[in-house]
Amino acid sequence: MRIDILTLFPEMFGGPFGHSIIKRAIDNNIVQIELHNIRNSGIGKHKVVDDYPYGGGEGMVMMPEPLFDSLTKLNIENGTPTVLLTPQGRQFSQKTADNLAQKSRLILICGRYEGVDERVREHMVTDEISIGDYVISGGELAAMVVVDAIIRRLPGALGAEIEQDSMMNGLLEYPQYTRPAQYQGWEVPAVLLSGNHAEITKWRRQQSIKKTAKRRPDLLKDADLSESERQIIQNEIKDR
Ligand code: ADE
Repeated sequence: MRIDILTLFPEMFGGPFGHSIIKRAIDNNIVQIELHNIRNSGIGKHKVVDDYPYGGGEGMVMMPEPLFDSLTKLNIENGTPTVLLTPQGRQFSQKTADNLAQKSRLILICGRYEGVDERVREHMVTDEISIGDYVISGGELAAMVVVDAIIRRLPGALGAEIEQDSMMNGLLEYPQYTRPAQYQGWEVPAVLLSGNHAEITKWRRQQSIKKTAKRRPDLLKDADLSESERQIIQNEIKDR
């Protein structure tokens, strides 16, 4: 997969992309990430990329031209998702990450300042994504989140690590423990020490369901649950 990122701050990506799973995926050619500085397509000697809003108001707005020129240079084929990161976008989710991970190419545009000229939304992007209902200082951190979630879904990216994340089955993850079995009098649940794998699998699944019912009941409507598992939820609700 190839991901092109248009940004005014390409240096910001060095940390997250230079470590751990993302770095390994890049090194192993599972993903190719190209950073493009929008300022290189800025206007005039000073490479201007933003201007005052028509109609007045606070702050600056990113101009359409530098973004359009940056995109043109990328020779984007029809059908390539071109996504603007913005708090006005649809909320990013595991499902969106899974969908985008199927694509051979993805373009991400990081908005900055008070926003981008509306004509960018209307004519240059295919999608707008928000990472949550809060405002951060620009699309860069949001793009990093999106890229990380996508790369985790690319075949081979996780190597020896688990391929089953929390959320992938629509449920929150079950509780995990490691050594020591006793710490300050706090014990690891006995079933996990029993060596009985069938019981452990059952316990984990139940814990996932209970935790999801308690913390994120909204997720349960899309989860694939058996009749007896739905019963666990009913009991949870009764016990509350
Ligand atoms: N830019 C600023 N806030 C954002 C958010 N919540 N999601 C995506 N891009 C953003």
